[in-house]
Formats: sequence, structure tokens, C-alpha cells
Amino acid sequence: MTTKLWGGRFGGTTDVLMRRFNDSITFDLRLWEADIRGSIAYASALAGAGVLTDQEAATLVAGLRAVQTEFAEGRFEVKPDDEDIHTAVERRLKEIVGEVAGKLHTGRSRNDQVATDLRLFALDAIRNVQHAIRDLQSALLAQAQAHINALMPGYTHLQRAQPITFAQWCLSHFWPFARDVERLEDCALRTAALPLGSGALAGNPFPLDREALARELGFAQITQNSLDGVSDRDFVAELLFCCAMVGVHLSRLAEDLIVYSTAEFGFVTFDDAYATGSSLMPQKKNPDAMELARGKAGRLIGNLVSLLTALKGLPMSYNKDLQEDKEPLFDSLDTLTLALPVIAGAVRTLKVNIERMRRALDPAMLATDVAEYLVRKGVPFREAHHLAGRAVAMAEAKGMGLNELTIGDWRLVSPHFDDDILAVFDFGRSVASRDVIGGTSPRAVRAQIRRAKRWLGQA
Ligand code: ARG
Repeated sequence: MTTKLWGGRFGGTTDVLMRRFNDSITFDLRLWEADIRGSIAYASALAGAGVLTDQEAATLVAGLRAVQTEFAEGRFEVKPDDEDIHTAVERRLKEIVGEVAGKLHTGRSRNDQVATDLRLFALDAIRNVQHAIRDLQSALLAQAQAHINALMPGYTHLQRAQPITFAQWCLSHFWPFARDVERLEDCALRTAALPLGSGALAGNPFPLDREALARELGFAQITQNSLDGVSDRDFVAELLFCCAMVGVHLSRLAEDLIVYSTAEFGFVTFDDAYATGSSLMPQKKNPDAMELARGKAGRLIGNLVSLLTALKGLPMSYNKDLQEDKEPLFDSLDTLTLALPVIAGAVRTLKVNIERMRRALDPAMLATDVAEYLVRKGVPFREAHHLAGRAVAMAEAKGMGLNELTIGDWRLVSPHFDDDILAVFDFGRSVASRDVIGGTSPRAVRAQIRRAKRWLGQA
């Protein structure tokens, strides 16, 4: 005789491997808190609908709180017949309060139950990820504040392009994470819709006050269609996309720092706490934290693709395929829960080698400034660009730096060049001249830092 919730119509027992295939308790156990929260609210709603007496509801709530305590204290024991978290909690509730436990599931299905649980879980998770991202942002901001005047080469195509400051580089990684936090906020809006009351697919047959249930559970709205309510996993896909995007941003930050930490660049040095050695080469100090962050982007993207693939072409409404929503979600959240604080720590403790960055600047990086010099003398930019290019070619042919050309050389290139062309060869001046909002000048960067702080709610 089976002890399954749905055992009534079954004569035989489930195949052993089929059970392992079907069960989700190994991974959905972590929904316990959401599941019990949902059930406590549902018990009260059933009383409100006249399905339970107040006494019965009180008994169920007290029993559910006892189960909650067992979980919180690590005393909850999973039994072999616990198919998933929902059956496990109900089974234990029955052991504690007796037969009245059988009334809790009235009008409810695991379909609307699991959709509710996962939304509650996701809402908590969104807050945690946002918090961890913000901490990484403050680490980037602190490095920016400490290096407003630290000059370094800015790159396009990973070729030296124009001088910037290290602060400007730090902030270039701050804003993508700001978008991630905002994107998560937007994702929370749609996640906070309550499916409970959708039943298996057709809706609850008792006069349940879904709006009150939603308020009770902290949802901003209720789902509008019972079929959609039990089968909508858009919120999981959105959250997985948000996580994947964070992963992509982490991977770009990581890649920059991996390159900057090489002996060839030497711009930054990782604290020992965030580097590892080689078992063979005694001299090695490897940026493993960054490499892992870069690598994890792969699984974060994979988890998104995995869910979207499972959702594609699913017939309305609930299908067991939807059980495949949880593992990718949990994995992405676990990945970020570890990666974000590690990268924040590595950024916070980063040693920045200002001298090395400065020495990597090359006067040729001021060729654009040469063109801009001509523009200020009234030469159209296209022509100025061409003339500056000629000067670069001349310096190259002479085997000297662009800043080493004599005034005679400059005049050969164009009569528009005067003595003051030599003043252009000042990296600090070049940086200071890029003074628009969002530019790399120390003044503009200070203003940017104020906006970043305000964004973080620190100022
Ligand atoms: N473990 C299931 C899931 O994660 C719960 C819902 C099961 N519903 C069902 N009709 N078998 O989706």
C-alpha cells in the first residue's frame, strides 16, 4: 500500500528508479521556509473562506510553526516517501497535529503551491543578490575615490588608446552593476504576483480571498489567470537572465584585472587572500578568484538557456518539465552568492601600482590631442586627424617619440603648429580636458563619484 499523497488510484508501487527520477526533495528541500510561510497563510485563508473552523486553522498554524522550528534547528528528518518539500511538510504536519492536517490542501494543488513557493524564494534571493552586488560596487567606488588622479592607459581593442584615470576605469565597472541591481528590482515587480488560488489549473472552488492572501504573503499583485498562474516561469527566466548578466559583468571585470595583474602590465597586485599558487612552479601567484569569476559566467548563461529550452513549446498549463526550473535557479544564485563577495574582497584589497600605470602611458596616445590642438586653431577635424597621423608616421620613421619632434618637424607637417604644440604632451592635461559629464577629468570623475554614492544611497 503506497503512502503517496496521490496514492488512491494506484494499485502498484512506483519503480525505484522512477521514484528517484520523479522526486525533487533532494533539491527543493531549501524551499521549506517559503513552503511553510505559504501554508500558514493558506490555512488562515481557508478559515476565511469558511472551509476550516478557526480552531482547525489555529491547530494547523501551530503545527506548521512546529515544523518550521524543526527545520530552523536542523532537526527536520526527511523520510524515504517524501517526494518533494510539499509532501514532506504535510507528512510531518500530520504526525504532529493528526488527521486535521489532511484539510490543509483543500482546493490547493502542488501546482499553485510550488509556483507560490518559488516566487517567495525568488523574492528573497533577489534582495540578497542586490545586496551582494552593492557591496562589490562600494569596493569599486572606494578604489575610484582613492585613485582620482592616477593616470593609466585606456584601451580599445586592448590597444593603448587614450589616457584615463584608474578611478574612471573603476567606475566603468560600477555602472553595469547598477543596471543589474535595477534590472533585479524590475524582475521583483513581476515575481511578486501570487499564483495561490489557481488550484491545479482551473482555480480554487472555495471563496478564497486571493487579494488578502497576497497582502499577507507580501505579494504586490495576484496572477490573473489560473492556467498561466501555475505554469508561468517567466520570473525564473528573468531572474536567471539577471544572474547571467551579472556573470557577464563579473567576467569583464575579472578579465581586466587578470590582464592588469600580469607581469607585463603590473598595474595591480592581488592580495594573497585572493590568489593561489602553483603546485609545480614556486614563483607563481595566480589570479584564480578572477579566473573562476570569468569561468562562472559560462554556467550562469547555461542555466538561463537550460530553463528557456525547457519552457519552449510547453503546452498549457502545468507540466512536470517545470520541475526543471529549480536546479538552474539554485545553481545561479549559489554561484553569485559566493562569487560576488569574493570579487568584492579582491577589489577592496587590490594594490594599485600607480607608477607602473603611469609608465605604460605612451606619448603616441596623445595623437588625438594633437588633432584637437589643430581643431582649436580652426582646422577641420578630418584634416587635423590626417595631419596628426602624419606627425605620428614621421616620429615613427625617425624612431622617436611623438613628443620628441622638434618645432621644425611640426611645422613641416603643418604651418598651423606653433611652439605651444609641445604643451600638448602632458597626460594630466589631456585627462583634465575631458571634462564633460561622464568624462575622465578628475573634476568630472569627482562629480561621477558623487552620483555613484547617491545611487548607492551613501551620500
Ligand atoms: N515537485 C513539483 C515541482 O517542482 C511540485 C509540483 C508537482 N505537481 C504535480 N502535479 N506533480 O514542480
